[in-house]
Amino acid sequence: MLEKHSNDASPILEIRNLKTHFFLEDHVLRALDGVNLTLARKSTLGLVGESGCGKSVMAMSVMRLIQSPPGKIVEGEINLHRKSTGEVIDIAKIDPLGPIMRDIRGGEIAIVFQEPMMSLNPLYTIGNQIAEVVEIHQKVGHKQALDRAYEMLTKVQISAPKQRLHEYPHQLSGGMRQRVMIALALSCNPSILIADEPTTALDVTVQSQILDLMNELQSDFDTSIIIITHNLGVVSQMADHVAVMYLGKIVEFAETRELFHNPLHPYTEGLLNSVPVLGRKAKALVPIKGMVPTPTDVIPGCAFAPRCPHAMAICHEQQPPLREVHPGHQTACWLYEDA
Ligand SMILES: Nc1ncnc2c1ncn2[C@@H]1O[C@H](COP(=O)(O)OP(=O)(O)OP(=O)(O)O)[C@@H](O)[C@H]1O
Ligand code: SF4
Ligand SMILES: [Mg+2]
Repeated sequence: MLEKHSNDASPILEIRNLKTHFFLEDHVLRALDGVNLTLARKSTLGLVGESGCGKSVMAMSVMRLIQSPPGKIVEGEINLHRKSTGEVIDIAKIDPLGPIMRDIRGGEIAIVFQEPMMSLNPLYTIGNQIAEVVEIHQKVGHKQALDRAYEMLTKVQISAPKQRLHEYPHQLSGGMRQRVMIALALSCNPSILIADEPTTALDVTVQSQILDLMNELQSDFDTSIIIITHNLGVVSQMADHVAVMYLGKIVEFAETRELFHNPLHPYTEGLLNSVPVLGRKAKALVPIKGMVPTPTDVIPGCAFAPRCPHAMAICHEQQPPLREVHPGHQTACWLYEDA
């Protein structure tokens, strides 16, 4: 298991009690139901949880890209420590279509998706797409922006970068497109890069190259990374800290090594026991029973109670708060009430 340590623990992003709901025809879907999470400067945070837990909605909420209607941030704060001015701004409160958010999106926080074709325009050359973003955010001319595009393609170690500038997305392989996406995302030196399942669609060798590249670029650019993935191996390789999400809430947060060796929340334990994880003692693999329910009802107690092997009476009645059980290790579970 690779160990990385951030040398600057001051926060760059602080999410407080964030609630993003979708107002559908006959019900409200509570995709985020009070997320609390801090991202440290120049560090990598792994965000894990089963499908439907709210990981992508969290990423899209931070980018203010939630489609409205039906989606809406109904409560909470997303406090960004801005690199340009040093001020703290609550992104949850600003106009998603206004100039401040346009400046932040791409300029200070960038996102890479699983499928690069979602973000790349098939009608424009790679060079022009990167240059356009640079022109908007860095207020430079086209020639200078194209030079930057070339520099970025070189940095992401794409073969024949000069030639790629003039090529279209469909002419590149999946791995190369993902490199272009990373080049595009980092072209304006954002302080935060959110990578939502960035390597899931790639084969294992290319996946590992892309992860190595992200690690290298992080130290070059001093970027903080949020990596969202189903793959706990990726998290152990990349992340300084891990946050475990269940039904729109963070249920555990710790340094990566601590989380893998000393998981506290029964859900985290279930996740770790359901897949083989490099560096953890081999145990019989046991899937977590049941499925993530659709978050439509207000649940009075712990949302994991119906699936939890340790559920007690209180678990069905009151929500456990997320709190620090050991230094730097937080969990939301009544088992640790007296800790
Ligand atoms: N545009 C939308 N309209 C309605 N519901 C949505 C929308 N986007 C997401 N949801 C719902 O929000 C919940 C969280 O979805 P999200 O995509 O964040 O899960 P995820 O953790 O990213 O899952 P996966 O691992 O499969 O990517 C799910 O119940 C999903 O159906
Ligand atoms: S609070 Fe109760 S139900 Fe929830 S994870 Fe802890 S023990 Fe299980
Ligand atoms: Mg997702």
